Amino acid sequence: MAIGTVGVIGAGTMGSGIAQVLAFTGHKVLLNDREMSLIERGLKGIEKSLDRFLKKERITQEQRDKALANVSPAEDLSSFANADFVIEAAFEDLAVKTALFEKLDGVCGPEVILATNTSSISITKLAATTKRPDKFIGMHFMNPVPLMNLVEIIRGIATSDETFRITKELSEKLGKTPVEVNDAPGFVSNRVLMPMINEAIFALHEGVGTADAIDTVMKLGMNHPMGPLALADLIGLDVCLFILKVLYDGFGDPKYRPCPLLTKMVDAGYLGRKSGKGFYDY
Ligand code: CAA
Repeated sequence: MAIGTVGVIGAGTMGSGIAQVLAFTGHKVLLNDREMSLIERGLKGIEKSLDRFLKKERITQEQRDKALANVSPAEDLSSFANADFVIEAAFEDLAVKTALFEKLDGVCGPEVILATNTSSISITKLAATTKRPDKFIGMHFMNPVPLMNLVEIIRGIATSDETFRITKELSEKLGKTPVEVNDAPGFVSNRVLMPMINEAIFALHEGVGTADAIDTVMKLGMNHPMGPLALADLIGLDVCLFILKVLYDGFGDPKYRPCPLLTKMVDAGYLGRKSGKGFYDY
């Protein structure tokens, strides 16, 4: 089955990034969020990102215009009846996602695959909230989506081989490199990344170095494109804390204990780039 139209739920950083790469590679995209103002903000973000690529001469004006024209706002989820594939990138909350999948089950055709961009919630658990666990899969993109090549593809216990094959092919069509991993807390990406970020926060908390020193060590010493604290600001400190809690609860292992400084910063509303303040000011 050819995938022509893809429904994307969530017009935040991840959802709009996913919508952008889908649109850029010729798919029609239905972009949904809770309110029209959020969808409009997502569309603005897509335009801004495409304009950056245009300015850097990495894409042409025609490619930019075509991509933008491929994205339509979908305020009402009922329009997803026309989608061939759905990617959910809503808020990381089991209740929110469960409610959405319940609705999608009713709206989408029975052959439609439901993919989730969750960064750490169990795919098996989310799949079980639907009537099509064989057509349910994790499709975990990295931030910023238009610039990052990886898609982590996670099979739930019931995901069929056909669902996996179609999802892998779609990822490749988007110009991404899919990597298959199994369903375990944090998958591979966040199981490895978040303990590093958490340790960097502990190093700051204990006064081992300044934020700039810690990030510079990792950038120049390990050739990381960004230091772990700057990366935490990019991901969102609330998201980092959420994922660490999933790891901590999922494994019952104290090595994943979130640093108290991270908890305190989230409590203060210092969420990184999106709030204007995190380990750095924006
Ligand atoms: N569209 C969207 N964002 C863009 C962009 C575009 N066309 N061009 C640049 N950016 C973003 C960057 O985030 C950053 O923001 P500001 O300029 O607004 O401050 C900036 O734009 C950097 O621009 P540069 O032109 O200097 O970009 P660069 O070539 O230096 O690369 C980068 C930036 C690709 C983000 C690089 O720094 C990098 O690879 N960083 C690591 C990113 C990473 O590890 N991501 C994974 C996070 S983990 C995750 O996503 C999973 C999870 O579940 C938490």
